[in-house]
Amino acid sequence: MKVVADVPYAFCFEPVLEGAWMPLPLSVLLNLASKWYYAVSGNKLIIRTESAIYCIGNRRHPMISNTRRAFLSKLAKFAGAPLLCGGGAFGFGSLLERHRVEVERHEIKLALGERAPAKLRALTMGDFHFDPLYEADYVAQCVSIANSLKPDVIFLTGDYVTSKSDRIGEFAGLLSKLCPRSGIFACLGNHDHWSNAGKIMGALESAGVRMLVNQQTRVNCAGGELVVAGLQSVWAGKPDWSLASRGLRRDERAVVLVHEPDFARTLSEDRRIALQLSGHTHGGQVRVPFYGALRLPTWGRLFQSGIYDLDALKLHVNRGIGTITFHVRLFCPPEIACFDISNIGAADA
Ligand SMILES: [Fe+2]
Repeated sequence: MKVVADVPYAFCFEPVLEGAWMPLPLSVLLNLASKWYYAVSGNKLIIRTESAIYCIGNRRHPMISNTRRAFLSKLAKFAGAPLLCGGGAFGFGSLLERHRVEVERHEIKLALGERAPAKLRALTMGDFHFDPLYEADYVAQCVSIANSLKPDVIFLTGDYVTSKSDRIGEFAGLLSKLCPRSGIFACLGNHDHWSNAGKIMGALESAGVRMLVNQQTRVNCAGGELVVAGLQSVWAGKPDWSLASRGLRRDERAVVLVHEPDFARTLSEDRRIALQLSGHTHGGQVRVPFYGALRLPTWGRLFQSGIYDLDALKLHVNRGIGTITFHVRLFCPPEIACFDISNIGAADA
């Protein structure tokens, strides 16, 4: 008699199929989902779960009493439908939707000032969370999609890693293939601050990304001069707009990169900011119909995804590229945001 917990995950399929009570499609679905999750996370809980399924399913298992087997069988029958729905959703979310990148296109009008370009195309990408999955092919695919949109500028909104920066060089190498006409500009996310921010900034700068940490810069693009500022993470750093806005002329309005969207409440008080670009929320990552996001992070609860107007400030929150904790997305695919911006001229500051 095999004991499931002692065999490698690759062989756990067979014992579950022995279970007489479980429909075959559900077995297949649960096993594919659990194998994938075990493979990427090494989570021993999956093996324990499979072991339990085996004990319930295998009526001859010597380690389980008849009374307990009867109880577990009833429980399994009762839980069959929810498991089928849950397993299907988990399989779709983890295997399909997590990599189904959507390009969200927005045509927006902003008063950027007389010196800014009349029109430009800008992209935002963020929340790659390169570790722990290190999905280089997926990041390369996102880079390729971004390049195909032929942007003037690309803005990165932080959280390049989750907790480890040891392979940031590999990630930066992938980003170095981005080729906008006028540059890549980035801020840091809370996870970057917590994972050796200096090393992450150094690697990204070497790959041609201009890091903006409570700083601003002027970008020559599309026949004009665009003011771009970036702030430290609100949660993990000290965002300082008064420092970043030094030298901003009265008739200019800036594009500001700040990882956490809820800081818009503060930034909207300064009319010199035309557009705030943020990420951080992953759009909720898992969204339940008629309910919404299951979980939202600190500083990411007021504005979850998409475009918001706060007085003179326009805010955009992207859903990000990667995932965190449970590597599943449901009704919340990853996003590259593409903005076609028309400059309506002078700011009314
Ligand atoms: Fe974040």
